[in-house]
Amino acid sequence: MRFLDREGDGPSAKYFNTPAAALYLDSTQPRYVGGILVMLNARLFKFWNDLPDALRTGRPQNEIKHGQKGMFEELYDELPRLEQFLGAMTGLSRINFEAFAEKFDFSRFKTLCDVGGATGLLCVEVAKAHPHLRCTSFDLPPVEPIARKHIAAAGLSDRVATASGDFFKDPLPKADMITMGMILHDWNLEKKMHLIRAAYDALPSGGALVAIEALIDDARRENVFGLLMSLNMLIEFGDAFDYSGADFRKWCGEAGFQRFEVIHLAGPSSAAIAYK
Ligand SMILES: C[S@@+](CC[C@H](N)C(=O)[O-])C[C@H]1O[C@@H](n2cnc3c(N)ncnc32)[C@H](O)[C@@H]1O
Repeated sequence: MRFLDREGDGPSAKYFNTPAAALYLDSTQPRYVGGILVMLNARLFKFWNDLPDALRTGRPQNEIKHGQKGMFEELYDELPRLEQFLGAMTGLSRINFEAFAEKFDFSRFKTLCDVGGATGLLCVEVAKAHPHLRCTSFDLPPVEPIARKHIAAAGLSDRVATASGDFFKDPLPKADMITMGMILHDWNLEKKMHLIRAAYDALPSGGALVAIEALIDDARRENVFGLLMSLNMLIEFGDAFDYSGADFRKWCGEAGFQRFEVIHLAGPSSAAIAYK
């Protein structure tokens, strides 16, 4: 797998991390992405044993199977579980957000709000690369202090703010760009449309809504990771699902957006963009 290399052979051989493992799999390093592996071990592998039940019933198979609460309420009740989930999000998203900061043309935009911004990672990566931008990371109240800590550690508290609220109850903070990393895929179609409309309301004319996801190819044949992620949304939420660029375009068109593009980011992930 090329995570370890070896000097010498036999009993006296020494093993050491390859450069990629040292960069991404050492939890003391700033670009660590192993949090997703930690969460897969702690939670998701065992829930996937119940995939047949999920397929037969359309019901979620995670902690909420036997409880009353929604997924985020269940996970966010205890700080260690919240931190484990947010670490997993960093693991899935870091390389996509770095690619987004590099590939998208931010020159026309002055403000950005990342909706469901978790630790503030998207805002941090974009603000680092584009000093003219002011960013806000918006998430549920228990997440805000964690985001604030990460933003301060990156030395960006002067240009990256935090805001908290419930994106189904509160209006989204106004900004020239609204980004949503793995947000729309968490919900059913009705709630996806609510979020797209809320983004439309928060944007000025010419503003951009950017969804960063493992966007499924339009023919639903190629992006195996995206298709599996969609099954993972069945396991986690029941009625949630991943989607294609064509789906995004259709939904955003219905909400009034005018122009669309898809930018490939890294591996199976892309940014789907709709302009108001
Ligand atoms: C799948 S995570 C994605 C995190 C991050 N955007 C990324 O791409 O790595 C979904 C995020 O949405 C947030 N969230 C869930 N429900 C929310 C709500 N009702 N209002 C605001 N944020 C919410 C969660 O706290 C979590 O940070």
